[in-house]
Amino acid sequence: MSGVKKYIDQNKDRFIEELLHLLRIPSVSADKSYEKDVLDTAQAVHDYLQKAGCNKVEICKTPGYPIVFGEHIIDENLPTVLVYGHYDVQPPDPIDLWESPPFEPVIKSTDLHPDGAIFARGACDDKGQMFMHLKAFEIMMKLNSLPCNVKFMIEGEEEVGSESLDWFVKRNQDKLKNDVILISDTGMISNSQPSITTGLRGLSYVEVEVTGPNRDLHSGLYGGAVANPINVLSKMIASLHDENNHITIPGFYDKVIEATEEERNEMAKAPFSLENYKKALDIDEVYGEKGYTTNERNSIRPTLDVNGIWGGYTGEGAKTVIASKAYAKISMRLVPDQDPDEITELFKNHFEKIAPKAVKVKVNPHHGGHAYVTPIDNIGYQAANKAYTDTFGVPAIPQRSGGSIPIVALFEKELKSKTILMGFGLDSDAIHSPNEHYGVFNYLKGIETIPLFYKYYVDLFKMNPS
Ligand code: BES
Ligand code: MN
Ligand code: MN
Repeated sequence: MSGVKKYIDQNKDRFIEELLHLLRIPSVSADKSYEKDVLDTAQAVHDYLQKAGCNKVEICKTPGYPIVFGEHIIDENLPTVLVYGHYDVQPPDPIDLWESPPFEPVIKSTDLHPDGAIFARGACDDKGQMFMHLKAFEIMMKLNSLPCNVKFMIEGEEEVGSESLDWFVKRNQDKLKNDVILISDTGMISNSQPSITTGLRGLSYVEVEVTGPNRDLHSGLYGGAVANPINVLSKMIASLHDENNHITIPGFYDKVIEATEEERNEMAKAPFSLENYKKALDIDEVYGEKGYTTNERNSIRPTLDVNGIWGGYTGEGAKTVIASKAYAKISMRLVPDQDPDEITELFKNHFEKIAPKAVKVKVNPHHGGHAYVTPIDNIGYQAANKAYTDTFGVPAIPQRSGGSIPIVALFEKELKSKTILMGFGLDSDAIHSPNEHYGVFNYLKGIETIPLFYKYYVDLFKMNPS
């Protein structure tokens, strides 16, 4: 048994206990009422980094929630790995659908996690995955095997658009200088088939408001004679896709880089069962853009989805009313080379244009971000692949993901470094949903795989000094 494996074996109960401690602090960045908990979580991450042996740890103030920065420099001539993660979590709603309280973690086994999974908000996204890096670092320190320099940047606003991170990165280029960025905040195909995420989608997020009459009206006295904002908004939203589920906003696809036949054939080789996919979601049929497979639709194609829609009377019983206003939150997932600001502008112009004169519309942009695609012919990818091959017994498959981590494109632009996305979650881990969980197997396997990444990365770095 390797030294790392032995150390994990002897310390796994504590590794799990410490993660449960972090999960008990409800660090919901979107909701101000959790402010103290978010700050307490930053402090806890700071303390764990210090305990693991980091020779410099600080809680860096920003206009928003702080960034926990840690650094362990052993030799200026050796490469530096920058680990990024986030300690904030999504709101737990809808609370009623949780089988156990979101901030009281419990371990239960599931079909895909026979060894148990930790159920709590943030278990997979991203406390569990972020904490693997702290434990891997602890192990390398204890076994005296850390082969290079390491920096940690753990933020508290990822789930609300990373605005302060943008601010921080632009002001701290030197402090953050690195040779490769390592992130575990994505997923892999299955516990027997690891994959490395080679692409993330970008994002444009808008909120729309449709106003009809200046007050709510009796739907008998006025119904049929004035525009009902909810009817109008529904119709406008429905018109944003055509019969083939293509998005109808003029210019929306202009900058989309189409995947080549070869890339699509390569993608199709990844193991995937449409039957299991449908079964897991309890749906009779999948749905999406004509001409593309399910895996293409959820990774290499741009999309437009309503995330929330409201207005009028939603209380108990019936109320005959025409609301004055209707609202929706709409997200567009983007692919290279779509520009989030341009797409937001195209959406705004189009949405204003298709509105009937009988209503007024407002489009308010939220956060956005660029898509990211990384090549696999670099030493970071190769090192990650060698690490997975060692611990899983099979090589990892490169795979583009549909999710977004907007700061990855920012890192490339500002820090000029490539990011390696070593995710250990599963799509079925219910991130952002009730009953989020993270496999104990995945957590421990991640801790075991990360030190191997460092080892192989430094080996390859010495062979190919850049
Ligand atoms: N960790 C996720 C992103 C993710 C998950 C990427 C799984 C790939 C696979 C991240 O925390 C997240 O939720 N990102 C948001 C965007 C952000 C701007 C709020 C997303 O993708 O919706
Ligand atoms: Mn995340
Ligand atoms: Mn998330």
